[in-house]
Amino acid sequence: MIKLRIAEYRKKHDLTQVALAKRLGVSFQTISKWENGKNYPDIEMLSDISDVFGVSMEELIGKKENNLSLEKQSSSKYWGKKIDYLLDTRKELWNDDYLEFLVEKVWKIREAVSILDYGCGFGYLGMKLMPLLPEGSSYTGLDISKELIDEGKKGFQNSEFDTEFIQCDLYEYLPKEKYDIVISQALLRHSERPETIMKKMYASVKTNGLMICIDVNRIYEEAGYFNSRLEYNPFDQLRVFESLWSEELKNGGRDYSMGSKLASLMNKIGLKDIQSRMNDKVIVATQLEDFTSIKEAKGWNHKYDNESYHRIRTHFLQKGIPINEIDLYIDRLKNNLIDLNDPSYEGCISFFRGMVITWGKNTE
Ligand SMILES: C[S@@+](CC[C@H](N)C(=O)[O-])C[C@H]1O[C@@H](n2cnc3c(N)ncnc32)[C@H](O)[C@@H]1O
Repeated sequence: MIKLRIAEYRKKHDLTQVALAKRLGVSFQTISKWENGKNYPDIEMLSDISDVFGVSMEELIGKKENNLSLEKQSSSKYWGKKIDYLLDTRKELWNDDYLEFLVEKVWKIREAVSILDYGCGFGYLGMKLMPLLPEGSSYTGLDISKELIDEGKKGFQNSEFDTEFIQCDLYEYLPKEKYDIVISQALLRHSERPETIMKKMYASVKTNGLMICIDVNRIYEEAGYFNSRLEYNPFDQLRVFESLWSEELKNGGRDYSMGSKLASLMNKIGLKDIQSRMNDKVIVATQLEDFTSIKEAKGWNHKYDNESYHRIRTHFLQKGIPINEIDLYIDRLKNNLIDLNDPSYEGCISFFRGMVITWGKNTE
């Protein structure tokens, strides 16, 4: 006898029999009969039920386990397919004058330095830093993605800067020399073993050299999005992510509060003189022509239609997020997009990027 897993998925999504019945257009008694094995849904209904829960029909009838496994963030293909996303989300990530301030006034870099960038992507940090550094400085980027490494080489091909890009897996690669500065941005929160990578970074910095790690705390970022036309409730804004992030952390995935943990991890692996700052970038937009930056920074700059919302829904469902939280998230996204595409918008949107910059010295 086939045991349908309707009750199990329904409870996981915090739905009552009545709520599920309403979604499927049947009576709650029908749901109860399916759950007790007294009756079975027909094949079309089975397909509708699997859509609601974001699982396959095989999973629903218990022939296959629901695979909640995480996408491989460190695979050589994953980020290579996201070049456009990376390029867009980096456009308004830093205020150039703040970076200049860090280089000159905080880190006080007065002589040529060698920089090694872990998980460099398309070399964004190199592009930002090289023009600010003393003449004779060099930049080396390490990344697993061939597409991103090629993009990085292309970006520097006509420049006078001394740059090198190396395609490698950071867990295996051993730098041949030591560097004045080792740096990473938006790498550690995507890493399965951030501490291992940080230890490698530490091992490749010269005595008295700087190790700098930059990572977001997504909680600050998400709660720091304010649209004056929508009700502001940071807790609601975080709800879907709270489930997503806890689920991922439990499965050894991304750590969304990495930005806040950098100092403590540096302390643990032996760095000295640890200090930390926040990136001061806040995007403010009041009219249609400013909204492009917000859309790019949020990854909202492609066309959203019913199919896109269905894809988001299925993606979250497969990650085990409760349906009610997904509905709340999609409603908010739709309302934001209505505003961001409205030429008569009257209000103000501000978006705080939530990046933490932490550094320490190797004094050994
Ligand atoms: C979110 S992106 C950040 C890229 C860049 N630092 C930036 O801020 O634009 C993370 C990068 O880390 C790289 N990466 C992740 N795991 C890696 C690994 N094990 N070895 C080498 N690169 C890795 C990815 O290919 C990707 O380019």
